This record gives sequence, C-alpha cells and structure tokens, in this order.
Amino acid sequence: MKIISIINQKGGVGKTTTALNLSTALRKKNKKILLVDLDPQCNLSNTVNATAKNNIYDVLTGKISLSEAIEADFISSSPYMANLNNKTQFTIIKSKTDYDYIILDTPPSLDIITLNALSISDNIIITTTADAYSLQGINQLITTILAIKQKRNPNIKIKGILLTRFIARTVISKNVITVLEGLTKQLGTKVFNTKIRECIALREAQMLNKDIFSYARYSNGAFDYEKLAGEVLDEKQ
Ligand SMILES: Nc1ncnc2c1ncn2[C@@H]1O[C@H](COP(=O)(O)OP(=O)(O)OP(=O)(O)O)[C@@H](O)[C@H]1O
Ligand SMILES: [Mg+2]
Repeated sequence: MKIISIINQKGGVGKTTTALNLSTALRKKNKKILLVDLDPQCNLSNTVNATAKNNIYDVLTGKISLSEAIEADFISSSPYMANLNNKTQFTIIKSKTDYDYIILDTPPSLDIITLNALSISDNIIITTTADAYSLQGINQLITTILAIKQKRNPNIKIKGILLTRFIARTVISKNVITVLEGLTKQLGTKVFNTKIRECIALREAQMLNKDIFSYARYSNGAFDYEKLAGEVLDEKQ
C-alpha cells in the first residue's frame, strides 16, 4: 500500500479534479484505491458522496474507526477539519493496508492538514497551472516538502509535477515547462509527460457530480487521466 497526496497550497489548480479522476483511472486498471477527502471545503465529498454518514474528522478525533468511515472506498471530509489542533496525528490512515493506493485530496494551504498529509505520504503529486504565481508557490512548497523529509518523513518522494488546465503551444506554457524541468532535475523528480489539457467536459462532469469516465469517456480529460494513471503505475519513471 502506498499513500499518494495531491498537493498545492494554491487554490484552483486541479487537485480535487486529479484526486477523483486519477483514482477512477487507477480503478479501471484494477487497482484497489481508497480515496480520502481531507479538505474542509468538502468539494470532493460533495461530488462523490454528499450524504455520507461518517467522515475523516470523526476518525482523527477518535470517535469512530477508520473502517467505519469508509463508504464505497471513499472517506468524506467535514468542515470541522478546519478545527483540528496541531497534536492530531494522521498515522491511523496508514493502517488500511488492504488497498494498493490511498489517495489524499488536500486543501489549498500549507496548514496542519497538508503538513500531516505530507508526513504520512509515500508519494506526492504536485498539481499546477502554467502561470507565474503558480511557479512562485511551487518553490515554497518544495522547501516545505524538503523540511518534512528531513524532520518527519525520510521516505517521502515527489512523484512529479502535473500540469493541469494545460493549453499547449502557448509561449507561456512552453516557458513554464522549461522552468519546471530545470527545477525538478535539481530535486530528483520530474514533470509528468502527461499534461491534463484544459477540457470543458471536466467542468461539466463536476457540475453533475461525476467522474470524467462516467460523464465523457472519449473526452480529452478522460484520455489524459488514463494516461496519467499509466505513468503513475510505471515505477521505472
Ligand atoms: N483540465 C481542466 N480543464 C478545465 N477545467 C478544469 C480542469 N481541471 C480543473 N478544472 C476546473 O478548475 C476548477 C478548480 O479545479 P479543482 O477544484 O480540481 O482545483 P483544486 O486545486 O482542488 O481547488 P481548491 O484548492 O479550491 O481545492 C474547477 O472548476 C474544475 O472543474
Ligand atoms: Mg480541491
């Protein structure tokens, strides 16, 4: 079992879209996936299971067991996640060893939740859009990840940086790729070959609370997330 966190402290860069559609794509490849929403905004929970009875907050505060919180291989978040104190340990999430991957969707901040997610993760996927402010944020994020690696979690590995909402052939996207490739080379990681293209069907699917494969399986979004799943499973890379 490996824990993959989808991280970026910047908002609106495709974390939740990636958590949902990468999980679905990996399940289509017969992997057993537990998807967990850690974001107090509960975006993913509203998409996957708005009527869930249990949530991760109750697990982390000791009210229920991890197994009790799982409904259809998913654990909901709660607005109360914003109230967690810094003594809360997330290590209990590691106990579900009967999954191939546990995928964590995280909030747009470098707060207690994200730091704890980093502390229990084997792999990190950083999602980003191709613009200047996003690049600035990535430097700060990587500094934080390296500090966590030193202090709390020596095994953490940045699986890669994933460009989302990508529009190829623009000068800015080419420049961003060049900058990111330089950065990732220094850090022993990579920019994923797969780029998630800007795709209206991904937004439409979200409006209907669906993953991209059930909404539009021949869309660019479905193609790109399926390709990403292949890249994530390819351990040689
Ligand atoms: N490839 C894409 N093409 C078009 N729209 C996209 C794409 N990826 C994400 N979006 C849209 O961009 C918006 C932000 O995406 P998403 O919620 O996944 O970002 P996030 O990083 O999880 O945001 P937050 O930080 O607030 O949790 C959503 O409306 C989503 O539908
Ligand atoms: Mg989100």
